[in-house]
Amino acid sequence: MLNSRLEKAIIEQIKAEEESSRLYLSMASWCEVNGYAGAAAFLFMHATEEREHSLKLLSYVNDRGGHARLMALEEPTAEFNSLQDVFEKVLEHELLVTSLINKLVEISMEEKDFNTLNFLQWYVTEQIEEESLARSIIDKFRLTEGEKGGLFHIDKELASMAAAEAAAIIKI
Ligand code: FEO
Repeated sequence: MLNSRLEKAIIEQIKAEEESSRLYLSMASWCEVNGYAGAAAFLFMHATEEREHSLKLLSYVNDRGGHARLMALEEPTAEFNSLQDVFEKVLEHELLVTSLINKLVEISMEEKDFNTLNFLQWYVTEQIEEESLARSIIDKFRLTEGEKGGLFHIDKELASMAAAEAAAIIKI
């Protein structure tokens, strides 16, 4: 059975993951209207993954005898300065999520809830992957130094990444 401190903390994390999903959805929408179809596909996919992260937490709370009540969400940013700015904000956001996950791990340790500690390991690993992915995309922008052809290639590459991810999901 989850204690009320942990239940509250995980419910806040559900909110954070839902907000991540909506932020990436908002970014995908910006990319779509600004002609970056590949980046839009990538971010739509990423928004779906974040929703799955929130659902996984919701099920965990309910499976452990709690009640995952949903909280009100913040309105996501809709305007970005450039495609590079979008991905810099992705990294910034993932760093924030990592700090929230670490805080949850800390609370689980304080509460000696080893099931939750074990459950959260998946999120700890996921954050390493997500930060690394965002950094690798930002590195590509640095290499192109803002030239137009470079942006076209990055967008194409993001389209391939989204297609590969979609193919992997179909295989599962
Ligand atoms: Fe679910 Fe990208 O953090």
